[in-house]
Amino acid sequence: MRIAGIALSVFVGIISAGFGGGGGLKGLPAPPTQRDEVTGREIYSNTCIRCHGIDGKGAMGLQLVPKPADLTSDAIQRRLDASLFKRIHDGKPNTAMGAWSSALSDDEIWDVLAYVRTFRQE
Ligand code: HEC
Repeated sequence: MRIAGIALSVFVGIISAGFGGGGGLKGLPAPPTQRDEVTGREIYSNTCIRCHGIDGKGAMGLQLVPKPADLTSDAIQRRLDASLFKRIHDGKPNTAMGAWSSALSDDEIWDVLAYVRTFRQE
């Protein structure tokens, strides 16, 4: 039985290392199982489009420094959901990208992120 006990604790160790080690992203709310791109699109049109543009590549005529991120780019689309969620939630310091946590619920942020994922280039 001792062997089994050791095997079990190794197993538990692997599991907790796998799920516990999220770096700075601990405490994020779990994504809902169903994400709603259609709602996300509405939110995007109301809140994000004026900077990020209809196609996610940035609105024309803006003089922001830095410019709004190109949401279709690999640099953005390669990032994990948790990382982008946190960015939309908390904003990006010293840029025009504000924290949307006061305007949008967590579910709404997941929805708008689902819509942002539709900008991914094949
Ligand atoms: C007032 C203009 C503005 C609005 C509105 C805005 N953004 Fe941004 N966004 C920016 C700017 C500026 C950046 C920073 C670009 C950079 O750092 O190079 C940015 C960056 C981002 C990034 C990349 C962040 C990173 O870590 O590099 C994402 C994702 C994003 N925005 C999503 C959204 C979403 C979703 C919305 C709507 C809820 C939104 N933005 C609304 C201006 C805006």
